[in-house]
Amino acid sequence: MLFLKRILFFCFLTTPSFLVLPLKKEGLLKMLCVTNIKNCVIISLNMINLKEQLNCSQYEAVRTIDRPVLVIAGAGSGKTRVIEYKVLYLIQNNFSPSSILLLTFTRKSAEEMLSRAGKHDPRCTEVEGGTFHSFCFKILKRYSRIIGISNSFIILDEGDAEDLLKKCASELKFFNKEKKTPNKRTLRKIISMSINKDMTIKEVIQRYYPYYIEFSEDIGKIREKYFEYKINKNYLDYDDLLIYMKVLLEDEGFRNMISERYRYIMVDEYQDTNKLQGDITYYLAERHKNITVVGDDAQSIYNFRGASHENIMKFPNLFPECKIVRL
Ligand SMILES: Nc1ncnc2c1ncn2[C@@H]1O[C@H](COP(=O)(O)OP(=O)(O)OP(=O)(O)O)[C@@H](O)[C@H]1O
Ligand SMILES: [Mg+2]
Repeated sequence: MLFLKRILFFCFLTTPSFLVLPLKKEGLLKMLCVTNIKNCVIISLNMINLKEQLNCSQYEAVRTIDRPVLVIAGAGSGKTRVIEYKVLYLIQNNFSPSSILLLTFTRKSAEEMLSRAGKHDPRCTEVEGGTFHSFCFKILKRYSRIIGISNSFIILDEGDAEDLLKKCASELKFFNKEKKTPNKRTLRKIISMSINKDMTIKEVIQRYYPYYIEFSEDIGKIREKYFEYKINKNYLDYDDLLIYMKVLLEDEGFRNMISERYRYIMVDEYQDTNKLQGDITYYLAERHKNITVVGDDAQSIYNFRGASHENIMKFPNLFPECKIVRL
């Protein structure tokens, strides 16, 4: 107790904003960490012994931080755990939380991962984590002017996008009682797929909706009208968030700036990324190459959205120096 009092007294007298005092206990390196010296808040952190928490392959993936890492494994084999502990590993090695970016497919999964890591070290909860769309939204709100888009844009959710497509289709007198024309939801899927998979409308229809082939040209016109509306009204749908993010990242100055900001990129469920998301991930990490992606090449639930296993297959070509870890 006297020892602790002396530490607290020392805190008031000295200026450093961060002081860590290691104490060895029960296989864990217990850290008594004194942060925010002015208010003298004391937090107890566990310096996790990774070897006890991870198997050998997970451990290898977590500790490799200076090159690209591709973790491939089947369902439930501990891929997400690699990301969770890699965040923790970086934080406990004093990398700034704001330099880490974690991209996932649901906001909930990002929150869960960070809050689990945060139980070992509260700084993990400061790491930026979210979906591709939420990340792109945030960046575009700040930087869209670089590519000539006002940042007062309005987001169209899926329902809004379908309704607008219906309006465009009606204006073009597309819906026809005598013929079975695709409904607004199918129109949205066809158009979205063509964007996310980087295919023409005709290619998408030929491959996924061959019975609508006679409408290919008309759907192309609906798409044009829909785009016109969005531009005039400053609307962005979910696909636009990805498209404009990619356009932004094609600007070398911006790309360099963003890679300075986010030095460590991690992507969960990489098998569910589509072509656009794969390109965005590549641009984010192209410069420093500190990227870890985890995925299962046998499961993809977002195929309808243009998710492509190709991103996993192509990862070693994009990053030839990558370490491939199979769990
Ligand atoms: N080395 C380990 N030691 C103890 N528990 C582990 C280990 N690796 C994974 N687990 C546990 O196994 C379960 C599945 O792990 P995790 O969610 O990381 O797998 P996943 O490969 O991401 O699964 P999914 O394919 O569903 O995304 C979790 O409860 C996780 O905490
Ligand atoms: Mg997982």
